[in-house]
Amino acid sequence: MSRRRNKWMHLVGGIVTGVALGIFLKLCLRTSARTAIESCPESAKQYIAQDPLALIGMKPEETVSNSNRTLLFVGVMTAQQYLETRAKAVYETWGQDLPGRIAFFSSEVSRAPGLPLVPLKTVDDSYPPQKKSFLMLLYMYENYGDRFEWFMRADDDVYVRGDRLAKFLRSVDSRKAQFIGQAGRGTAAERDALALDYNENFCMGGPGVLLSRETLRRVAPHVKYCLKHLYTSHEDVELGRCVAKFAGVSCTWSYDMQTILHHNSSGAEAYTGRLKKREVHRAITLHPVKDHRHMYRMHSYFKNLRIQEIREESLDLHRAIASSMHELQVPPEQVEDYMLPGDVPLFPVKVGEVGYLGDNTILGAPLDMGRYKSSTFEDIIPFDFISKSVFSVSHANPKRRIEQPLKEALDDVIREVMEIINAPSRQRGRVIDFNELLYGYTRLDPLHGADHVLDLLLKYRRYRGRKMTVAVRRHAYLQQSFTSMDIRELPMGEPPLPFDDDDPENNDFSDYEDFDDSKLEQSSVLDFGKLNVREAFQSGLSKLQNLPNVLKWGVAKEAEYSIFDRKIHFILPLAGKYEVFIRFMKNYEDIVLKFYEAVTLIVVLYLDSKSPLDYNNSESLIKYYINTYAQEINVVEMGSTTFSRGAALTEGLKLCSSDDLVFFIDVDMMFNFDTLRKIRINTIKYHQAYFPIVFSEYNPDVVNGEDYNKFKEDSLVTNTDLGKYVNDDTVSKSDRELANLKYSKEISDDYGYFRQYGFGILSIYKCDFERVGGFDLNIKGWGKEDVELFETMIKSNLTVYRIADESLVHIFHSVDCDKNLEKSQFMMCLGTKASTYGGEKHMNYYMLNHPEILWPEEAKGAS
Ligand SMILES: *[C@@H]1O[C@H](CO)[C@@H](O)[C@H](O)[C@H]1NC(C)=O
Ligand SMILES: *[C@@H]1O[C@H](CO)[C@@H](O)[C@H](O)[C@H]1NC(C)=O
Ligand SMILES: *[C@@H]1O[C@H](CO)[C@@H](O)[C@H](O)[C@H]1NC(C)=O
Ligand SMILES: *[C@@H]1O[C@H](CO)[C@@H](O)[C@H](O)[C@H]1NC(C)=O
Repeated sequence: MSRRRNKWMHLVGGIVTGVALGIFLKLCLRTSARTAIESCPESAKQYIAQDPLALIGMKPEETVSNSNRTLLFVGVMTAQQYLETRAKAVYETWGQDLPGRIAFFSSEVSRAPGLPLVPLKTVDDSYPPQKKSFLMLLYMYENYGDRFEWFMRADDDVYVRGDRLAKFLRSVDSRKAQFIGQAGRGTAAERDALALDYNENFCMGGPGVLLSRETLRRVAPHVKYCLKHLYTSHEDVELGRCVAKFAGVSCTWSYDMQTILHHNSSGAEAYTGRLKKREVHRAITLHPVKDHRHMYRMHSYFKNLRIQEIREESLDLHRAIASSMHELQVPPEQVEDYMLPGDVPLFPVKVGEVGYLGDNTILGAPLDMGRYKSSTFEDIIPFDFISKSVFSVSHANPKRRIEQPLKEALDDVIREVMEIINAPSRQRGRVIDFNELLYGYTRLDPLHGADHVLDLLLKYRRYRGRKMTVAVRRHAYLQQSFTSMDIRELPMGEPPLPFDDDDPENNDFSDYEDFDDSKLEQSSVLDFGKLNVREAFQSGLSKLQNLPNVLKWGVAKEAEYSIFDRKIHFILPLAGKYEVFIRFMKNYEDIVLKFYEAVTLIVVLYLDSKSPLDYNNSESLIKYYINTYAQEINVVEMGSTTFSRGAALTEGLKLCSSDDLVFFIDVDMMFNFDTLRKIRINTIKYHQAYFPIVFSEYNPDVVNGEDYNKFKEDSLVTNTDLGKYVNDDTVSKSDRELANLKYSKEISDDYGYFRQYGFGILSIYKCDFERVGGFDLNIKGWGKEDVELFETMIKSNLTVYRIADESLVHIFHSVDCDKNLEKSQFMMCLGTKASTYGGEKHMNYYMLNHPEILWPEEAKGAS
């Protein structure tokens, strides 16, 4: 049990903290618009060959010795029909990250302004592309032969990881003739057809082929000869033959090549699924990416890995600094302002400034299970025990199944551990495979990150010397550290007043001090002195730039119009439920009508055959409010048509115009001013739909019931008094604040839960809603249409924004699941009914109070 391997892992990824902590579900297949490539038939006629150096953005004075972009030249073979898809995708993704330059080679008639394209004379797009390939080599040699160390022949459906490739190429001597690729030989039978000798091979074209400068120098002058002496129609086989004949080298024989130049044989399916896989992580090139949109997806995946790597490096540096400072006996609180000899500040950029590197006292904390020292017993962060289930003291349900996020985290951690363990495998002639996790401990320290202790069962295989396979156990102590936080500023509170914002201390909105400074728009630097965010987010801040214009403060400038005036159209389907509707209208009156909020209400009214009176009553109530406040409330009368929520919302939408911001709400919901603000800032036309995660109340009979609370030390406070916070503050509050409090509930596990799986409440612009196709109107009755809409949205190019929104509370009502519902709807209904009943804690107390449930036999015997 010794701490043999004390290898620490870092980093979960930064936390994005905004005013709200949110989840972005974003579609990855978004085409970027960095380069506009248009087909332009006019220019085709009058094509003038571009200067080869200008074409690839190279200066005449650049050489291998004075530039970091001369390691590699990549020639991508493509065809006219793929210029706007695959070639464009390659250029916009990995083509930008090369330790060198890239150009595309296509048929004589090909044109693509914006792309470094070489239309090869006398070449067409016919298959096999032998002529294209050989003439490409010749062009490379004649124009760039002495300017790069390496040359790559690539297809337009390969993804290349430039940083990895650079590392690999720098480890190989480019002065020698080298021919690197995934070697192929064909089967014995094929070898005859390929006209290969028993000792001959070729580099398979797909995953990319690399030639050193020397190889190119020897081969290029002879390509005309090779083109005249083709034995087969396979372009890569012929290239191999030509290289063997004139450069005297064959393709590298190495099993590693299959790993680093990776070819997946699933065809169009390849790399369309999960990318978090060993073979993807280990590869330098990946082939084939048939659908060009997946090129962008892979690119963002690898960029993300790169960000993690860089953040990890930054953490390592922080730790090195912290430990050096410790050795120098510099007290931690002086590290930030420490001056190096020569009056050079150690950290020149201070907190709040652009480029701030984070708080060294937090980020530089040494890797140690005791990074966080609790001063009291209560502060100790307990570990959860993992075996087949998770056991924890901190959860109302002490034994539960391992949920997906933890499972994924463990997979990640174990994969990385195995990579570290296997790094020296080749030198040591052994491979160690992961077999199973025997057990482990895990906990989350909110300040530093996650700690894991894992007992791993591994398989040790030795393939050099005395061969053997044995099972071994290994303990791993691992830490994943948080890196710095990103902050996104959002407008809060009320709009800035037009005049007296010279002195922010004196005006109304100093209550909303967090980020609510009307000067923020001009200065990109937060005033930390005043805001004191530093204490709040100790581990360092960096601001997210590129906030969409519509979200910025500018009332008059770039923004379309002030977001506080943006009109929201509530659409409320209603069938029966008059009593509940009275409550809803009171809420609407107190928040919207009394304050002339920019909101309109559209009620889609159905006749419920079980309570026909409700229909007329609801209509009268609406009339009363219209007469009293003279504000807009619309009614869509659906009469006795069968209720369907999707159809109801669609009918309501007909009263809106396509630029309108609409909010789908239910009569059981309670909302306040915060809701309106969140709808306005989180819904962005053409970009984003807002699906708040609403807080759903438990059954008050359960929450307050004897049976469920008897064993509790401190009984729960009853939660029925909406206004209970109103009086507990001596500070006088504005009418708005009072109204807001009246419609706020205490949010805690004791009273309800956030309905993670509810998607019915959402806000969106009507045009976006219509663009994704709206609701499936074939679904009748309760639920499900919202789940399908959500799934459609995820697949669309809209960003789906979700946060736990404590301003939206679903007031409890008992659920009646109609047995006539379609089965999946019925099951969903039962699920909701069960989860709304009470919390795990309540169920536990109930069990303790009713032992006959757990021990029915004993209970019987005793009586
Ligand atoms: C090359 O060096 C420049 C300047 O030092 C740097 O900005 C650029 O990122 C480097 N490019 C590559 C591919 O390393
Ligand atoms: C190839 O891709 C398919 C589909 O994405 C995947 O199921 C399979 O495991 C991959 N095979 C290899 C060897 O990477
Ligand atoms: C509702 O009002 C309509 C006319 O406004 C009337 O004809 C109908 O009988 C009323 N229904 C009920 C159930 O009172
Ligand atoms: C989504 O696609 C539509 C057209 O299909 C386009 O108008 C809109 O700008 C796109 N939105 C984003 C965020 O790319």
